[in-house]
Amino acid sequence: MSSKPLVAIVGSTGNQGLSVAKSLLATGKYRVRGLTRNVDSATSKSLIAQGAEMVKANLNNHDEIKRAFQGANIVFAVTNFWDPEIVGGDPTLEVRQGKLIADVAKETGVEWLFWSSLADTNAGSNGTLKHVLHFDGKNQVEHYIRKLGIPATFIYVGFYMTNFDSFFPKVTNPDGSQEIPIPFVTENTPIPLVDPSKDVGPIVAAILEDREQWRGKAVPVAGERITFGEAAKIISEYSGVRTTIRTLDAETIKDFPGLNNEEMIEMCKWFNYGYFGQTEARDISVAKKLHPGITTFRQFCAEKYGMK
Ligand SMILES: NC(=O)c1ccc[n+]([C@@H]2O[C@H](COP(=O)([O-])OP(=O)(O)OC[C@H]3O[C@@H](n4cnc5c(N)ncnc54)[C@H](OP(=O)(O)O)[C@@H]3O)[C@@H](O)[C@H]2O)c1
Repeated sequence: MSSKPLVAIVGSTGNQGLSVAKSLLATGKYRVRGLTRNVDSATSKSLIAQGAEMVKANLNNHDEIKRAFQGANIVFAVTNFWDPEIVGGDPTLEVRQGKLIADVAKETGVEWLFWSSLADTNAGSNGTLKHVLHFDGKNQVEHYIRKLGIPATFIYVGFYMTNFDSFFPKVTNPDGSQEIPIPFVTENTPIPLVDPSKDVGPIVAAILEDREQWRGKAVPVAGERITFGEAAKIISEYSGVRTTIRTLDAETIKDFPGLNNEEMIEMCKWFNYGYFGQTEARDISVAKKLHPGITTFRQFCAEKYGMK
């Protein structure tokens, strides 16, 4: 059997985990084992073709996670709050999944755990924002991992560049220009942006080169921090369509049912606290040091809309 360290990846078929799997396979220094609910999916098969082992494991099932972590030296884990089972079913399930991952990592003697965390918006806003479960839940799991004493690094992933096409889809005006409706932020609100499918993996690979230095640290993954207005200008430049930010308030948000819920409203309000809040992840120069080629929003738009 190979003596290369074995890395088990939770969320291996998604943006963050797939990036980690590809980066670690590319180093040639690790064996990669991906967890998925469906080993026959196209992404799972492509990972197998790239040299990964894929195992069926549902994050609600202790024994399946245990089988998947058996013999793993390192685990990278991200949970998906937006899975229909969680956001549309039981929103508290993400925390239980995260704690189960931590428990099994401890039980199976995993040497290092990467946990994809986010800031505690409730504490960071002095109790003003109490409903951003997909942030606070991940932070609760981070605390749990620290309490269990598992050697770990906490990855804080910025605002996905793709969110402008998913969570905040653009609205086209009669004159052909477009607006990005976002509740309670203005064009002057700064936001750390990331292309998770490209940049989470290189950061994890860089940390593993000297992991002791990153024990217990909150490490940002974000290429740059620009304002929403600057992001809209860059979209205009590359797409050729004049694009601006439309700030939604308590009244105008009613026209956008997908955004009109406490989870989204309070998350956007949280952006005014700096997205990473006062956590050590707020210093995003750390990401650039670990991964000098990290994606900028201009690079992302150049690829999406074609080079200018
Ligand atoms: N959008 C943003 O700006 C942003 C920023 C920071 C953090 N995040 C967080 O990122 C997370 C999502 O990460 P992502 O974008 O990498 O995910 P993604 O691309 O949506 O993929 C979800 C992954 O989770 C796996 N998964 C979900 N439920 C599972 C279960 N019960 N058992 C086993 N595997 C399960 C899926 O595996 P299979 O389908 O193959 O089973 C898949 O690999 C969310 O929790 C979100 O809060 C988002």
